[in-house]
Amino acid sequence: MLGKTVIITGASSGIGRDLALEFARRGYSLGLTARRYELLKEIQTEINSLFGKLIKVELRVLDVTIYRDIFRVIKELDFSLGGMDILVVNAGVSKSKPLGSGNFQMIKI
Ligand SMILES: NC(=O)c1ccc[n+]([C@@H]2O[C@H](COP(=O)([O-])OP(=O)(O)OC[C@H]3O[C@@H](n4cnc5c(N)ncnc54)[C@H](OP(=O)(O)O)[C@@H]3O)[C@@H](O)[C@H]2O)c1
Repeated sequence: MLGKTVIITGASSGIGRDLALEFARRGYSLGLTARRYELLKEIQTEINSLFGKLIKVELRVLDVTIYRDIFRVIKELDFSLGGMDILVVNAGVSKSKPLGSGNFQMIKI
């Protein structure tokens, strides 16, 4: 899959982090964003040590609640990676409760 690129928002932990490692394993160049830069840096270091410098890893701080920054940062990464094949819109939070302790009135749409 050499030459393909993926940009992942919310890549500093959880699903986004795991996706970054999996895409790197598949040979993608990566654009990783989140608010916690130090965690992105750790992932970059891990990818470099696992796969060498063959895999390009670009990092950007991005808070997706600051809407104007989203367009700027994604365009910047698109430019630095030489294109964007996949955009994983992953940044977010999920709240969960133990089975049986939820409240239907609170979670219904
Ligand atoms: N885990 C599940 O079972 C599940 C189920 C359904 C949906 N999801 C969705 O899957 C996504 C990832 O979930 P996860 O379980 O991997 O959660 P997680 O471990 O808490 O990771 C969330 C990621 O989103 C980033 N993030 C949160 N708020 C952000 C903001 N305002 N701006 C930029 N980045 C932000 C965090 O990075 P920083 O804090 O460094 O910014 C982090 O990298 C979420 O959108 C969640 O709603 C998860």
